[in-house]
Amino acid sequence: MGKLDGKVALITGAGSGMGRAAAKLFAEEGAKVAVVDYVEETAKETAEMIKKGGGEAITIKADVSRWDDVDRAVSETVKAFGKLDIMVNNAGVFDNMVPCAEVDDNLWDRIININLKGCFYGCKRSIQEFLKQGKGGVIVNTASVAGIGAMAGGTAYTVSKHGVVGLTRQVACEYAKSGIRVNAVCPGGITTGMTQDLFKDSQFAQLIIGMVPMGEVGKPEDIAKGMLYLASEDSRYVTGTLLTIDGGWRAK
Ligand SMILES: NC(=O)c1ccc[n+]([C@@H]2O[C@H](COP(=O)([O-])OP(=O)(O)OC[C@H]3O[C@@H](n4cnc5c(N)ncnc54)[C@H](O)[C@@H]3O)[C@@H](O)[C@H]2O)c1
Repeated sequence: MGKLDGKVALITGAGSGMGRAAAKLFAEEGAKVAVVDYVEETAKETAEMIKKGGGEAITIKADVSRWDDVDRAVSETVKAFGKLDIMVNNAGVFDNMVPCAEVDDNLWDRIININLKGCFYGCKRSIQEFLKQGKGGVIVNTASVAGIGAMAGGTAYTVSKHGVVGLTRQVACEYAKSGIRVNAVCPGGITTGMTQDLFKDSQFAQLIIGMVPMGEVGKPEDIAKGMLYLASEDSRYVTGTLLTIDGGWRAK
């Protein structure tokens, strides 16, 4: 028996990295998965991987920073699978550690619109659906160690992820009585599409690894397992919290 048998999950940013790892793991655990990404090709690859493993998946091309896209993604998921149980707001982009004085409007708007507004849209639209269905629901947001302290990103990224943390806590309290649980994972340094170029720079990689007590970066699957816990009944009494998965980085 899978931990998500009979559930329907929508995962944004599921064409790569931890979103893809979560999509595969959730499907292995019995969920039907809507693979959402603004890169259609990689989203299709994830869906194919799931189908090859015997799971069910659909692909939806959507940009999380656009309300119409998020609205359509949820509607298409419900149309295909009959309902929505789990929303994973995971899509995000990095700012390459740009410090405050060098942040231009384009960078600020891109990072805030995708990482924070996209997460807000995902919360808003999935909650509308959960309330309509009347059976509660689960939201897992991807924040970051950059959401609970400084120097794991530049100014815009750090602000966006602090915003995701605040959003998670606020929305969790607003909808707890409706049976909707809202939590966030806070990954540390994880090898994904987002970081592969950064980690190729051995000086940068050593800088990050030097901050991590366990002395290594993590894998997308490490985060997917945390998302599964927050999405499943195992965490039935958990809401408004942060699950930090960072090899001990933020323990110091
Ligand atoms: N990799 C890390 O070290 C790390 C650490 C902490 C937090 N995070 C967060 O984890 C999440 C996943 O990132 P990842 O590391 O797996 O990176 P990734 O680049 O491998 O995957 C991110 C996916 O999101 C998609 N995406 C980006 N903007 C989008 C948009 N506007 N609409 C729809 N899809 C969009 C990309 O196409 C990509 O497939 C992000 O929110 C990121 O900020 C990453």
